[in-house]
Parts: sequence; structure tokens; C-alpha cells
Amino acid sequence: MTLPQFPEGFLWGVSSSAYQIEGAVDEDGRGPSTWDTFAAVPGRVAGGDTGRVATDHYHRYSEDVALMAELGVGAYRFSVSWPRVLPAGHGEVNRKGLDFYDRLVDELCANGIAPAVTLYHWDTPQAVEDAGGWLARDTAFRFADYADVVAARLGDRVRMWMPLNEPMVVTLFGYAVGAHAPGRELMFEALPVAHHQLLAHGLATRALRANGATSVGIANHHVPVWPASDSPADRGAADLYDVLVNDMFAAPVLTGRYPTDELAAAMPGPVAEDLAIIAEPLDWYGVNYYLPSRVAAPSGRETVIDGAVLPPGLPFDFPAIDGYPVTDFGWPVVPDGLRQTLTMLADRYGDHLPPVHITESGCAYHDEVHDQRRVDYLDGHVRALHQAIADGIDVRGYFVWSIVDNFEWAAGYSQRFGLVHVDYDTLARTKKDSFHWYRDLIRAQR
Ligand code: NOJ
Repeated sequence: MTLPQFPEGFLWGVSSSAYQIEGAVDEDGRGPSTWDTFAAVPGRVAGGDTGRVATDHYHRYSEDVALMAELGVGAYRFSVSWPRVLPAGHGEVNRKGLDFYDRLVDELCANGIAPAVTLYHWDTPQAVEDAGGWLARDTAFRFADYADVVAARLGDRVRMWMPLNEPMVVTLFGYAVGAHAPGRELMFEALPVAHHQLLAHGLATRALRANGATSVGIANHHVPVWPASDSPADRGAADLYDVLVNDMFAAPVLTGRYPTDELAAAMPGPVAEDLAIIAEPLDWYGVNYYLPSRVAAPSGRETVIDGAVLPPGLPFDFPAIDGYPVTDFGWPVVPDGLRQTLTMLADRYGDHLPPVHITESGCAYHDEVHDQRRVDYLDGHVRALHQAIADGIDVRGYFVWSIVDNFEWAAGYSQRFGLVHVDYDTLARTKKDSFHWYRDLIRAQR
């Protein structure tokens, strides 16, 4: 089948994040993060895995950048580790930590690959967590100071910035149900975590702009929400989930309002003033898409997501999505869900929605080298994206998650998302068939 042609200048990229690939957790003055702490607790991460060595990208970044150059990507989205730059979360800057990112950015530029930097991909400095983490308003201001430090050093070469990655997942998994660091089970008491991250996004966006940044966005997790039935109870549960997962993180950033008055009232601090900061205009909007959510009213059964048993009392349930193939992570493969997600955002936010980048898209399969299922997955999603663009949605880029296999949070190394296989005994990298497929897709563009 012929490969789809995308608009001229369309940006093809790959994504990763610091804790998932770097390793070197004790090197060159890095401070501890919440994920070091969380992963050290038995039972929290599958197999007792940690990010201690990960893919050793901290030492092998040149090899990884060479792989990206061979792939022909125009951009690499990676995250800077806050505790590597500010080991105590604020105060003294760890020059050696910043030096690492300086070398990485230079290496990317030397290979003609634009650096796209995430400032927070979930590895909170443990000292910040000890002072309240995202439950504390002060964390938003500490984060903006950190953004300023990074922008002052790397801003002359970084093309795209995104202060946050998936604040929804931090709120829900990290603080509401406890499946991710810091492992809190606060349920709806976790709502301030959403607000303080959004405030951090707005403050950091201002700090980046003050340092001359001209391309700032956000990487938000989005899902099409499918009600399990037409019953009022299922529809009500699905609507609530949709608001919490999609609109709570999109509406404040894009329109300066919370999606419901009830949510606005549940947030701490001077919410109206904060919203003016949160809605700092963005140059683009990043969407991470993996799968749809099928939502029903609570059934009384135990809820399990990605192997984690969620605390009782959730106001929704997630019945299985049947009729689709599943990845080795058990996630249904629904390429049209990407088009549905983009249509949902365009319909809801209209002119408020700036050009979009798909900041993550990918799948977990164990196949070592001949990963035809990943090729099929990506091919399907790229075609769904092509359709969305044909429908009139302004999408400017697509970033595959991920360049190399890596630490998949609570699933540890048991799930492999890479275009490149990593042997965790030898740390050897091997290109998978999907790597060659993606290279050919990029080459086939005008
Ligand atoms: C989104 C997260 O940003 C990333 O860290 C994670 O590995 C992928 N989803 C896959 O679950």
C-alpha cells in the first residue's frame, strides 16, 4: 500500500522522557525523585524494576541521536529531569546536570534534529514532594523558577517547549488512585493537584517567553470516551469521566475557564486570577493518544487498570472494549480513536485550539525485531491522522512513542514501546522493523 503524503513541512519526530531512559540516577549531583522513592517500595513496580540504569541513555545519548539521524526525524521530544538540574527542587543549580542537556541539545543540532523539550515528565524532586508536592501551591512557583533556569541555558537552541506532560495522569494515577508516584490515594481530594500543575504550566510558559521562547505548547493525554450503554447511569458516568480526563486539562489552558462551575469551585486559591495565567496563549497544542476509554456506572466490582487495582469508590467503571486487536499491554488498537480525539477537540474548542502536534503515539509489543504488529499499529494511526487533516484539522507534527524500549512506569521493563529494542543485560540497541518502516515513511514525504 502506498504511504500517505502529509502537508509540506509536517514534522516527524520521536519521544522519550528522562526517568524512563536516562539511568545514572546518582551521577553528577542528581537529586532523588519521587519515582526513585516509589520504585524502591516493593510491589509498586512490576518485577521490582527501577530507573537506576534504564537504557543508560545518560551515557549512550550519542548512539541514540545517531539512530534518530538514521531515522530521519526532524525533531526529538525528550524531558529534562528537574532533580538533575535542581537537586533540592529549588535553590542551587547543579551545573553538571544542565551540562548533560547542553551536550544532548548540541548533538541533536549537529545532526539537524530540532530539540523539543518537556520540562516535567513526572520525576518530581523528592524534596519538592516532601514539601507537599503538587498539593502545595508553592510547587507551581518553584517549577517556574526551574523553567527559567533551563530556558536561560538551552533556549538559544531548543525549538519547541512544553512545560508539562499529561498532568491528568499525574493527578489521577499519582495522587487520586496511587498507581504512580507519589502513590497517594486521595480520590477527589486530589483536585488541587490538577490546578497547581495548570498554574505551573502558565507560570512556566511566561518564564519561557521571558527567555525568548517562540514555540510553547503542552502535551495532554486525551481519549475519546465511549459510554458503555445509552442508560442514563452509564452516560452520566461517561460524561463525568470525559470532563475530568479531557476538559479539565484542555479548557483552562485553551479558554481560561474550568469546564464546570463545580470544578472551578473545587479548586484552591485565587482561581480566577490563576486562570488568567493558565490561559497564557500557546503556539500549539500537544495530544498524546493511545486508546479510547469505555466508561460505565460503577458496578461494585474491583477496577483494575494496567494491572493496578484501584481503590474502591470510583464513580465509574471501565468495561473491556471488545472487537479490536489488543497490544501486549492489553490496550485495544483503535486507530480511528485518534481521529475521534482530534475531532472532539476541534468541535469543543474551535478557534481556541491552536495547531496540533501529536506529541505521543505508540504501542507495547514484546516482538524483538520483527514487530509487524507495531508497523500495523503505526500505519493505522498515521492513516487516521491523515484523515483528520483531510477533514480540516490543523495538525503539524507526529511523534512516535518511543525511540527506544524503556521503563514503562508501574509496568517496569515488562512493556516495550520502542522502535529500537534494548537488551537490558547488555544495553545493546537493535533496530526493529518498525524503525525501518518509519524511516521509509519519512523518506517518502516530498
Ligand atoms: C504516556 C506517557 O507520557 C509516557 O511516559 C508513557 O510511557 C506512555 N504514555 C505509554 O504508556
